Amino acid sequence: MAKNYLIFLVLLHISIGTRPENFLKDTVTNIAEGISSNPLLSVTTHTYSNAFAAAVNAVTWMPNVLANALGPVTLPIYTSDTNNGEKIDQFILDFSAASVNEDAKLGIVELIFKNGFAVQEHEVETEDGYQLTIFRIPRTGPVVFLMHGLLGSADDFVVAGRESALAYMLAEAGYDVWMGNARGNKHSRKHFILEPSEAAFWDFSWHEIGVYDLPAMIDYVLNTTEEKSLKYIGHSQGTTSFFVMASERPEYNEKIALMVALSPVAYMSNVRSPIVRLMASGTYILHGLSKSLGLYEFLPDNNLIRTLKLLICGTGPVSEILCSNTLFLMSGYDFPQLNVTNLPVVLGHLPSGASMKQFAHYGQGILSKDFRKFDYGVRENLERYGVGVPPSYDLKKIVAPVYMFCSESDWLAHPIDVVRLFNRLPNVVGFYKVPLKQFNHVDFFLAKDVKELLYFKLLSELERF
Ligand SMILES: *[C@@H]1O[C@H](CO)[C@@H](O)[C@H](O)[C@H]1NC(C)=O
Ligand SMILES: *[C@@H]1O[C@H](CO)[C@@H](O)[C@H](O)[C@H]1NC(C)=O
Repeated sequence: MAKNYLIFLVLLHISIGTRPENFLKDTVTNIAEGISSNPLLSVTTHTYSNAFAAAVNAVTWMPNVLANALGPVTLPIYTSDTNNGEKIDQFILDFSAASVNEDAKLGIVELIFKNGFAVQEHEVETEDGYQLTIFRIPRTGPVVFLMHGLLGSADDFVVAGRESALAYMLAEAGYDVWMGNARGNKHSRKHFILEPSEAAFWDFSWHEIGVYDLPAMIDYVLNTTEEKSLKYIGHSQGTTSFFVMASERPEYNEKIALMVALSPVAYMSNVRSPIVRLMASGTYILHGLSKSLGLYEFLPDNNLIRTLKLLICGTGPVSEILCSNTLFLMSGYDFPQLNVTNLPVVLGHLPSGASMKQFAHYGQGILSKDFRKFDYGVRENLERYGVGVPPSYDLKKIVAPVYMFCSESDWLAHPIDVVRLFNRLPNVVGFYKVPLKQFNHVDFFLAKDVKELLYFKLLSELERF
């Protein structure tokens, strides 16, 4: 009970805007255990599976507290269409019928092969010892490099299936398609010395992905293909890490013929995703205690997911299926654009793993309203950066041409934040808002009509550079 009360207090403080680090300063060790069950994580070394759910049950008005912490979001969204018996029945029928689809269980290599394409697997080592896997659909045309978002992997670019997946469309158009995998996702869980079971393995955010992983992969691809430059297409965190690379290692700008930003994420102040906002409120607690507790991999536990599902998605068979998946829970979904027949395949391939620090870094961006380096607290910031406040990424250095694609309802890349980025990037060559109001974050790779709404346009722009 004491633990529940404690979590309740923490949430209360979060909801009234106190920085939990101040609140906790003196009693850190006492309450470490309680805190570790607040975030959307399970602990690799301990389990506190019931605590959060129990806390929610114990405090009946928790939804209000939570709602305050979450800010002005409308919950739930785009499920209204589904408050219709017939549609729900159809959904369940289609979903069940499709559950036998063997594609749900096939790995990415088998999937690509089955769809009639040659496929290669390459391994690349980063300067700091991670071993990353890159998949390639080899073709003779220009090189295009695809980089997935948070909790994603190369799979994101093939899961939509033969008809709609971006990787297949590019390969068909003749592009030599390379798909990267950031450290920590299911294809890149290897390190020269460290094991994924060790906390130190997970000590990275998208900063390290931008500074080490992208340069290593881009160099490898250019070297192998004997090209001087490539076209880069990033989704979500695949754009964030690109902006980090291009500002921190500006010599890479000249290796980029065009950067296509699908759902660009740098400024975060208007993020609508409740789970990410909630995460943000816990950011300071999380980071402060994560080291000692070994809280590094993002592994939301079932009770927590169940609780959030209830608060965010409500009940019913549709949310039961969709919101059980962390990715949908985090980025929302757009019911009319969901290919229900393909859903079991999608659920079989996502999410793909990430570190807690990636979330914490995004969370800091929500609070600071800035696009800047990881905040380690004043003392460690001074040691690392020579200043108490983490430096902002220098966007003026991103001189590679950037084409931005965004959408009105994106839970993670809010149009206001995207426009702010647009205004600060020195070489934006195009800006396109998807002409469908409810198009959401995952629709950039999953929507039924993604070709008509987005990819045909993308393809014609790619040809110009
Ligand atoms: C580039 O490729 C050559 C062989 O094709 C290889 O010997 C060399 O190590 C590669 N360099 C890098 C940086 O990958
Ligand atoms: C929907 O999913 C099914 C099953 O994977 C697939 O055959 C079909 O082509 C998909 N529809 C679109 C528009 O991609």
